[in-house]
Amino acid sequence: MQENGTIFIADCDVKSRDLVSAFLTYKGYGITVAEVGTSFFDTLQKNNVDIVIADLAYLQSIAPDFEERSSMINPLMVLIGYSEASSDEHKKTSDDIFTIPKPINLDELESLVMRAREYQSMKLYDNSAGGSSQFQLLSATMIGTSPPMRALFEMISKVATSKATVLIQGESGTGKELAARAIHQLSDRHARNFVPVNCAAIPDDLLESELFGHVKGSFTGAYANRIGRFEMADRGTLFLDEIGDMKANLQVKLLRVLQNREFEPVGASKSQKVDVRIIAATNKNLEELVISRDFREDLYYRLSVIPIVIPPLRERREDIPVLIHTFLTRFNADKRHAVKGFSRDSLAILCNYEWPGNVRELENLVERLVILKGSGLIVPDDLPEKYLSGKISHPVSVQSPGLPSDNLLPEGGICLNSAVDEFENNLIMQALARSGGNKKEAALLLNLKRTTLIEKLKKKNLAFSED
Ligand SMILES: Nc1ncnc2c1ncn2[C@@H]1O[C@H](COP(=O)(O)OP(=O)(O)OP(=O)(O)O)[C@@H](O)[C@H]1O
Ligand SMILES: [Mg+2]
Repeated sequence: MQENGTIFIADCDVKSRDLVSAFLTYKGYGITVAEVGTSFFDTLQKNNVDIVIADLAYLQSIAPDFEERSSMINPLMVLIGYSEASSDEHKKTSDDIFTIPKPINLDELESLVMRAREYQSMKLYDNSAGGSSQFQLLSATMIGTSPPMRALFEMISKVATSKATVLIQGESGTGKELAARAIHQLSDRHARNFVPVNCAAIPDDLLESELFGHVKGSFTGAYANRIGRFEMADRGTLFLDEIGDMKANLQVKLLRVLQNREFEPVGASKSQKVDVRIIAATNKNLEELVISRDFREDLYYRLSVIPIVIPPLRERREDIPVLIHTFLTRFNADKRHAVKGFSRDSLAILCNYEWPGNVRELENLVERLVILKGSGLIVPDDLPEKYLSGKISHPVSVQSPGLPSDNLLPEGGICLNSAVDEFENNLIMQALARSGGNKKEAALLLNLKRTTLIEKLKKKNLAFSED
């Protein structure tokens, strides 16, 4: 980023765009000018932009919902062509938007940009100061210290305070519902209901009444008026899980609620207003469903105002040890058991496993091991067969000690400490095997003192009788 900040200019009027661009470049700003078309927000997210200068009419044509989304993106907006006359028609709703009339007075534009920069640094300061307790609250429920998890925590704390619709995508078991609950907990709606609806689990013909409620007699079996999940979530949060499974007819109805914030119970003649924050989630690829026409494009855009993607566990392996430790402590306490921990080699196996079921699979495995083992240390033999088969394909090879190789690092990364540890264990075990268990000879093969080898064996819980 330039010292003066990076500015993104969105204006289809080439003359005015070039003038602003040349002037601000001269003043020391980094300028990006791009044809953004309909992918305005995507372009912003991909580029590290501090301020957007946009022509109001142009912006309205490419991103009609820009006001709603403006507080959710980092850059501030300076709108050109926002005159007193147009202010009634297009009310400025966000503090993140600065306006200037047309024709542009360049000095006025510069002072506005400087004001926007000042405001921006104050806002960043406030967020980091006020954000720390939110961070603590989050990290107490959502475990993970990897860069993607930290970015996720930051995103969650940022979006929690707004009412914008959130779409959470990620493989099964990655923690989508946990993230949705965290957003609700950190929002000013936390004292009201968090209402989950699993769109895949409710039969199609019942989902509409489940969501919107029904009036008595509206269909066979509707013996009494019933309120729906939307009403239950009034002033709270509605969590629409497995949204990718929602059928086309309901997609239309949901779109209407998102647009107008009102709905009609099945069989009712009047619509009802509702104040609901919507968080949707899916483990399907919604963009692909849009392309195959199984999901409405307009609904997709309405839902993904704030898109959040939770990466699979195999892409953040450094979280595995801390998750194991947390689950172990929890299940030991729940079940009044006293499992001491995992041996280093069993931990190494788990760090290198692919985890197709993500955190849920890990949580279930730890629970099962705590129940079955009860006490002591969990060693590789305690692990179910499928985890051990991963051990064979362990990327660290003892065939070529010391020789750096190009293909040691697996696609999804590696838990370095565990890998180095296992490499060391393997060499020690080979040396002991070659020396017939004689530690003095094994130590010689490893260029170690005998006492150092014994110390290592103890530390690593590699049981070996004294000789
Ligand atoms: N980061 C995490 N820290 C602690 N527990 C987690 C984390 N992520 C997931 N879990 C736990 O894993 C389990 C699965 O999480 P959750 O139900 O939120 O996943 P999901 O993405 O909604 O899965 P699905 O797509 O199958 O519905 C839950 O028990 C949850 O508490
Ligand atoms: Mg879920």
